[in-house]
Amino acid sequence: MGNELWVEKYSPTKIEELVGQEKAAKTLRTFVNNYKPGSGILLIGPSGCGKNVLVSALAKETGNELLETNASDVRKKADIEEIIGGASRQMSLTGDGKIILVDEADGIHGNSDRGGVPAILKIVQNSAFPIVLTANNPDVRAVKELKKKCKVVKMAKLSEADVAKRLKDILSSEGIEAADSVIMQIAWRSEGDMRIAINELQAVSTGRQKITKENLEHLGEHGKRIAISDALKAIFKTKDADFIRKSMFACDVAPEEIMLWIEENIAREYGDASEIAEAYDKVSRADIFLRRIRRGQQWALLSYASELMSIGTARAKKEKNGKSIDYVFPQIIAIMGRTKFQRAKRDSEAAELGEALHCSKKRVLEQMPYFDIIFQHQGQGSNQ
Ligand SMILES: Nc1ncnc2c1ncn2[C@@H]1O[C@H](COP(=O)(O)OP(=O)(O)OP(=O)(O)O)[C@@H](O)[C@H]1O
Ligand SMILES: [Mg+2]
Repeated sequence: MGNELWVEKYSPTKIEELVGQEKAAKTLRTFVNNYKPGSGILLIGPSGCGKNVLVSALAKETGNELLETNASDVRKKADIEEIIGGASRQMSLTGDGKIILVDEADGIHGNSDRGGVPAILKIVQNSAFPIVLTANNPDVRAVKELKKKCKVVKMAKLSEADVAKRLKDILSSEGIEAADSVIMQIAWRSEGDMRIAINELQAVSTGRQKITKENLEHLGEHGKRIAISDALKAIFKTKDADFIRKSMFACDVAPEEIMLWIEENIAREYGDASEIAEAYDKVSRADIFLRRIRRGQQWALLSYASELMSIGTARAKKEKNGKSIDYVFPQIIAIMGRTKFQRAKRDSEAAELGEALHCSKKRVLEQMPYFDIIFQHQGQGSNQ
């Protein structure tokens, strides 16, 4: 059990377990339930957004057998005709209906002999059973051709909110604790790819009951990552929303921490008082959203927080400061770092006391100032 991959263990088997694909599920369900020969359905979406899990969950829900083929298995036109064409005419083994999946249809492009796409389209138009195709990239030639003759369902990249929600459910099933900022950061890093997010979550969770931000430091990098100074440069030196958003994604620093960096450096970068005031205003609003996310698990607010702090700050400037600025590490983190030892000691004492007193660590921390007073008085009493 311990070696099981969480992406498989927590792969949704029911449509309700999928996050963020309600609309796609509805369209696919209607297509399958009302299927008449004439058109296939093409699911286009980025990696790890749930194309395969959606199709298999729907096959299950509708009592259809699922026949899966991958474009790389049917390289030759003859294979397409034999395997997919054959399946499109034969009843399923059980006599139930079936769904034929042609996975990763982008791969039809570049097959050894031409004519793969027309062969598939011919089968799609006459198939007795619904044919579902999947693809990542809407711009490759094969997919463009398929789009003309298939109903297209765009499956969006999952939002950080959706990814975070799923990660939280997984952790609670596993009985592992994690600070919200940790989940937020993993969701953030995954760029909407649930497979990456779950794999990273499992990697940091292995052998732990609780995961902390420090545990994330050892995670490998994926994609092209940028340093915090580059993300700050995007924010302070441009107003290009798309570029700033991408830079925020590509930076391995959690949104909460990026906010502290922005806050620390606003006055170093902007000279005009009204620019500074507006930038601080946007950051303070982002801070309110972050607080709400932490308190109420309202993950959907994360994108507001992120856009307010980054694009909000970027757009506060009238024009860019031409000077290159050395961005400074947030003082608040430095101060917290210095008092880290004291805080850790206080927390561990509170936990111990909590155990003896049968109450939570939080409760003990609230009462701690009173202990101080009580113990001082006790001391005086015993001296007398
Ligand atoms: N919407 C989702 N809700 C919950 N889990 C998901 C979702 N999407 C993906 N997953 C998880 O990620 C794994 C990979 O998903 P899936 O195979 O469906 O991705 P895909 O969209 O087909 O990606 P690719 O284009 O790389 O083939 C699943 O096993 C599941 O654990
Ligand atoms: Mg897939």
